[in-house]
Amino acid sequence: MSRSAHPAGPRHADVLPEGHYTAPPTDLNVLDEKVWARTVTRNEDGAVSVGGIEVTRLAEEFGTPAYFLDEDDFRARCRAWSDAFGKDADVFYAGKAFLSRAVVRWLKEEGLNLDVCSGGELTTALDAGMPAERIAFHGNNKSEEEIERAVRVGVGRIVLDSFQEIVRVAHIAQRQGKRQRVQIRVTVGVEAHTHEFIATAHEDQKFGIALAGGQAAEAVRRALRLDGLELIGIHSHIGSQIFDMAGFEVSARRVVQLLAEVRDEHGIELPEIDLGGGLGIAYTSDDDPREPHDIAKALSEIVTRECEAANLRTPRISVEPGRAIVGPTAFTLYEVGTIKPLEGLRTYVSVDGGMSDNIRTALYDAEYSVALVSRTSDAEPMLTRVVGKHCESGDIVVKDAFLPADLAPGDLIAVPATGAYCRSMASNYNHALRPPVVAVKDGEARVIVRRETEEDLLRLDVG
Ligand code: LLP
Repeated sequence: MSRSAHPAGPRHADVLPEGHYTAPPTDLNVLDEKVWARTVTRNEDGAVSVGGIEVTRLAEEFGTPAYFLDEDDFRARCRAWSDAFGKDADVFYAGKAFLSRAVVRWLKEEGLNLDVCSGGELTTALDAGMPAERIAFHGNNKSEEEIERAVRVGVGRIVLDSFQEIVRVAHIAQRQGKRQRVQIRVTVGVEAHTHEFIATAHEDQKFGIALAGGQAAEAVRRALRLDGLELIGIHSHIGSQIFDMAGFEVSARRVVQLLAEVRDEHGIELPEIDLGGGLGIAYTSDDDPREPHDIAKALSEIVTRECEAANLRTPRISVEPGRAIVGPTAFTLYEVGTIKPLEGLRTYVSVDGGMSDNIRTALYDAEYSVALVSRTSDAEPMLTRVVGKHCESGDIVVKDAFLPADLAPGDLIAVPATGAYCRSMASNYNHALRPPVVAVKDGEARVIVRRETEEDLLRLDVG
């Protein structure tokens, strides 16, 4: 493949258009370990490897685009979360971030629980052998069929999301002669500092039952009256990609206040609270996520302090990190195709995937990093926009990124931190084939979700 330099686009600070970038990094060959999976390194010959295998070999064997997931990193993050929260708390991995049977087995082996939010996720979890009692079932509009199955297989908890669902789950459980363990999801009225579409604890949205106006207290009253339900606690999830612990602090305080009201009114102390997920990860070098240990310490201190003040026994805490476990463990590998320098603007670098494998940039204006990984380069930094191959101008993977000016078709570039909400939100837009997920560990790579084929597309199209 030719490596000849093409007319490089604009690169000098005085002609840079508006964007999210600061200055170009001093050395584009350096990989910031904050955003890359743990076993990712750049070898002496310049190629990048993960789990001991060079990306050039991975591309040859598995093709591009593809997600490569560092299994050791995933397992280490599971352990970091469960060690941080210890024996008196439960960590539920949020399967919506990315779920496959291999992932379920890793979670099971590492002692984590699992949050599912659809019949499909429940099927995947059970099929891979996750014990039902370690599963929490979520969703704002669970179907009768989903609830029936969840109750029948004996999921550890169903998180109730509406007044109608309180009755629905109680009836279904009673019909099956069961008493279902449930939590009530409340909206605590916190404005989480994140994108509107991924904030969930303000009142004007579809999830949960508002604490405001006594609605959550009324939900507790109703749940306690129904024989089919065993109310074990209160649930709150304030949003996603959050760095500031202040929102969790307010949420914990308000949930504990509700526990105190429940104690005062009904004479019972609910034994559990779930503070949801939403902890942020580093997508770019500007992001500074907190360590699980700090998060666990902060959350348990807040809950303990609030409970002491309310003279309540400290409930068992659970959390539901999804992104913070799987997000940093994977990157997407693309092959560079068309390169289009736009004078006075930037250079558009097209890759062989796009919004069908990463919708987050288009949907949330998310920021990502990118690096040339098949070789090193000493060329000057060039301001680029990495775009996909779909018929849509919003098909952007990385909005503002510096790549070396000698970038050429056939080079491999990788976007780190794509483990969460990329494959799980992938689509077939333009009849794109969804990429595989390949797990890499100790010099071995294996496909855990295979690449879609045109046959797969035609199989669904029944004419
Ligand atoms: N628990 C509940 C009840 C949730 O609704 C969610 C995420 C989580 C836990 C996990 O949140 P995490 O720790 O992964 O942030 N598609 C969006 C994120 C939507 C999250 C929905 N709920 C994105 O790509 O940013």
